[in-house]
Amino acid sequence: MISATTPFSFILFGASGHLAQLKIYPALYVLALKKRLPAHYAVIGFARTQMPEEEFRSLVEKSIRTQMGEVNEKVLAGFLEHVYYHGGQYDAKKDFDALAKKIGSMEDKGKQWTRVAYLSVPPAVFTPIFKNLSASGIHADHGGPFRCIIEKPVGHDLTSFEALRKELLAAFKEEEIYLLDHYLGKEAVRNTYYLRFANPVLERLLKNTLIHHVEIAALELGGIEGRAGYFEHTGTLRDMVQSHLLLMCTLLTMRIHEEAGAFPTHRKTALEQFYLPPAKDVNDLILQGQYAVGMIGKEKIDAYRSEPDIAKDSRTNTFIAMKLRTRISRWDGVPFYIRTGKRLTKKETRISIQFQEPHPVGKESGPNRLDIILQGEAGMRLHLQTKLGGNELMFRPLVMEDPLVCFGDCLPEHALLLPEAIHGDHQWFLTFDEVRLAWQLMDPLQSHLDRPETPLHLYPAGSNGPAEADGWIKRDGVEWF
Ligand code: BG6
Repeated sequence: MISATTPFSFILFGASGHLAQLKIYPALYVLALKKRLPAHYAVIGFARTQMPEEEFRSLVEKSIRTQMGEVNEKVLAGFLEHVYYHGGQYDAKKDFDALAKKIGSMEDKGKQWTRVAYLSVPPAVFTPIFKNLSASGIHADHGGPFRCIIEKPVGHDLTSFEALRKELLAAFKEEEIYLLDHYLGKEAVRNTYYLRFANPVLERLLKNTLIHHVEIAALELGGIEGRAGYFEHTGTLRDMVQSHLLLMCTLLTMRIHEEAGAFPTHRKTALEQFYLPPAKDVNDLILQGQYAVGMIGKEKIDAYRSEPDIAKDSRTNTFIAMKLRTRISRWDGVPFYIRTGKRLTKKETRISIQFQEPHPVGKESGPNRLDIILQGEAGMRLHLQTKLGGNELMFRPLVMEDPLVCFGDCLPEHALLLPEAIHGDHQWFLTFDEVRLAWQLMDPLQSHLDRPETPLHLYPAGSNGPAEADGWIKRDGVEWF
């Protein structure tokens, strides 16, 4: 377990934003609850609005109460005593000078503090923040370790990624940079690899001579949750596939290793092997959709195009179906079908592996399948068949099942990742190489989707996505699970 002895200053840019309230403050509270925070630490929110510190503490408190449901009042009150606020402009050096002074006055001189700058802001303001962190001395002058954390997507395409990488490396040392994809902070996602690592029986089944195809799905009930400004220029391919879905492909196929710290290298090597199968028409490789008006349960859901701040004729995708293959020899030839979308029937993040059916065994039976359901109704299910009594050769499904929920020391994503960053552990953070490879794979697809003649299929909110996606996969003789 990562110890809680390092004093740290956690400077959060974009302190009143969506991510901060949804994930970061609740994660810090959980760490306080589990006694994982050191005696000395400061959480300093920075944003453009001027507000008294008390008002900011109330915002942090509210976000924790909303996300946690129940709180331990004593722990919450104790945590809030470590919370501070500094209003300022991202491009104003004087505001960073004042911030530097404030941080300096909080840090107890007798100890070495780690400083963490977390950028939960649009990429447009990254550059001034990097510059001012250096110019004000926040980055290097305190003599202790420094971390800069930015969330995925890192860049918008390959070109913007390379530009951002250069800027990051001009401002900070590579080991000071943490590229965060919160899926790598999910125990369930990490477990995709560990299930293979710990179960040689399972690992032996995962090879092309036995597997028919793989489906990797991230189905969402939610919409864009007030993030029109971000999502309208991003879309689901960049928002979900470029990062989260490719990571799931990688963790399923990467080499099992025993060396400590080797995760980034093996993830990269696995990702490098994914490619777009040859196709006459790019439409055979990818299909995009966008949600229209519909119902989820009893609630009427507006169309994506009717969301506030979304163009009435927007062509941004909220659904993607696509296929990939890998050159890794044991997976060679196995199609990977990816499906993800917003405003679907349910929340479910799943890896399904359908095995070959060498001989059909009769009515009411189907091929063997392994489902690893990471989110939603989590569970691992192995679908087998067993014979029914009688002279006729008939079978019924036999499903071996485990709820696959986290047991033990379970933490939400950011509560797992933040202490890892504070302690300088990069294993579960992305490397520049991985992000570059992901954009290399995505860019040609995104250019295709951006063409006005590429179809964008509308689907009712609360459905399984566009009907065309069912037809699209059926052409390969496969169905979505
Ligand atoms: C984020 C995306 O990275 O992941 C969101 O920006 C998406 O659009 C979210 O909804 C899904 O994460 P989770 O943890 O709910 O599966």
